[in-house]
Amino acid sequence: MSADLAKQNAARAALDYVKDGMIVGLGTGSTSAHLVRFLGERVRDGLKIRGVPTSEATRNLAEQVGVPLLEISQVTALDVDIDGADEIDPGFRLIKGGGGALLREKIVAAASRQMVVIADETKWVKTLGEFPLPVEVTRFGFMLTLERVREALRATGCAGDEVSLRTSGKSNEPVITDGGNYILDAHARKIADPDALGDALKRVAGVVEHGLFIGLAQTVILGRADGAEIKTL
Ligand code: A5P
Repeated sequence: MSADLAKQNAARAALDYVKDGMIVGLGTGSTSAHLVRFLGERVRDGLKIRGVPTSEATRNLAEQVGVPLLEISQVTALDVDIDGADEIDPGFRLIKGGGGALLREKIVAAASRQMVVIADETKWVKTLGEFPLPVEVTRFGFMLTLERVREALRATGCAGDEVSLRTSGKSNEPVITDGGNYILDAHARKIADPDALGDALKRVAGVVEHGLFIGLAQTVILGRADGAEIKTL
């Protein structure tokens, strides 16, 4: 409950970064869902923005609460992207993709003039890797890709090298992303060199995108039960 309050406080503080006329990237996950609901209230009060959702789940929520939307194909740049994270390190490097939306999230973040991360304070870590790193891969040949991802973990000095195919709790069927791909969860435990791991993963055939977001976030809003702390690089 207090974690949810912390997420709400982070999302509320991010409203200051949204101004009339902006094109806003709408993140995915429970913290971003709070943001979308708050934006819906602001739009009802007269705020004029257009959102670009980073997942079908966020699109559905934004439509429900009345945030006007644009398709990604209709924009060449966004003013601000506001999104959650699974881990954030002191260099504002992120692990994202716990909700499986990392591919669209990264495309939207990379097209934005500014990325604001909203998270409860438990997401702030000294070293990335305790949270399993999501890696989106093609369904074709995914077991081969899984082995190559393990090799990338080992080659870049990660503490762990287990990699699992993400399945859904109930049916145990592989989770399919909005882009029609699978997600591998790479249990690196400690990522010694996030830049090297990111580069190594990008070189693996079959990897569509990975959940390391490096050099994208300039602002991090850490929510607590009693408020929010704003950090800038
Ligand atoms: C979605 O794919 C993720 O990148 C989320 O932004 C991340 O998992 C944070 O989610 P919560 O806001 O639910 O913690």
